[in-house]
Amino acid sequence: MNILGIESSCDETAVAVVRDGREILSNEIFSQADMHAIYGGVVPEIASRNHITVISRLAGEAVRKAGLSRSGIDAIAVTAAPGLIGALLVGVNFAKGAALALDVPLIPVHHVRGHIAANYLAFPELEPPFLCLAISGGNTALVDVRGYTDMTVLGATRDDAAGECFDKAARVLGLPYPGGLPLQNLAEGGDDAAFRLPHARIEGHPYDMSFSGLKTAVVNIVHNALQKGEPLDRAGLAASFQRAVSETLVPRAMDAVRALGYDTVVVAGGVAANKRVRADFEAVCRREKLKLYIPPLKLCGDNGAMIACQGYYEYLSGVRAGQELNAYATMDLDKAAF
Ligand code: KG4
Repeated sequence: MNILGIESSCDETAVAVVRDGREILSNEIFSQADMHAIYGGVVPEIASRNHITVISRLAGEAVRKAGLSRSGIDAIAVTAAPGLIGALLVGVNFAKGAALALDVPLIPVHHVRGHIAANYLAFPELEPPFLCLAISGGNTALVDVRGYTDMTVLGATRDDAAGECFDKAARVLGLPYPGGLPLQNLAEGGDDAAFRLPHARIEGHPYDMSFSGLKTAVVNIVHNALQKGEPLDRAGLAASFQRAVSETLVPRAMDAVRALGYDTVVVAGGVAANKRVRADFEAVCRREKLKLYIPPLKLCGDNGAMIACQGYYEYLSGVRAGQELNAYATMDLDKAAF
């Protein structure tokens, strides 16, 4: 079964074709990051307009590069939540038109379920159950993945997502948007004990997280140094920041996997590309003899293949949408219903 997957929830327009949920036939991605960089973050209206400009061409390319004609597409999967509403609507409306024109089923997909599914594309042997830490620009959650479409959020961030925190910390350090990779590069060679930064805990909710205090601490350190005209150890601050993020994420994931009794940890989303987070997970999983899956860098960020992959499993579980399908800016990952 060949599924055309469409992703437009933020600043990447992406269309892919995936066969039987696991084999990527094509994966076209148009990143708008450069267009938003001058504003220091994503401008929703600009994102929507750019999706409109490129989505049709990208879909054509995805079908062509898959070696198929339109009649070779058996279903259309599309990110319908969560994300920027205008951006989502471009993908959803394009998908509705395509499903109608090709007379194939339309499958709505939750964006973060897609990030989790990126691991099925990278690792053919991976099957639920497992514990997943989903860390992206807009979402941060610890998820008990019992089945492909059966999952429970054990804990999530109470405020900023991990990626958002990376982007804000990077911005105040004078780095370009998106800030995750530049901050990681700045941290290379920096002393991760140079600054003591806060690690928030929420009483009674051991799996919940908070990154706003960490973000504010970085902002205050930078502004204090500027106001006093003092030199700032930027590499040390970047390294200490990465350490604080990792020390928030990794122990919670390990506590959760032990509590569930699973032998597998999966990490998903744009921040899963982070070297420090990857290294810390690798070290602890090796020590505790747990299987660890983190997608290769090209599947960590937003892409259409992950939506087609999750769409396949949603399809198998009976999920279908009609022409009345809407997009939703927010939606719980474990209660995804369209
Ligand atoms: O998953 P993604 O492409 O978009 C969402 O679904 O939100 O994630 C984008 C986020 C951005 O915040 C970006 O700064 C972050 O992932 N990111 C990183 C790295 N590469 C991308 N964060 C830390 N280290 C990286 N190497």
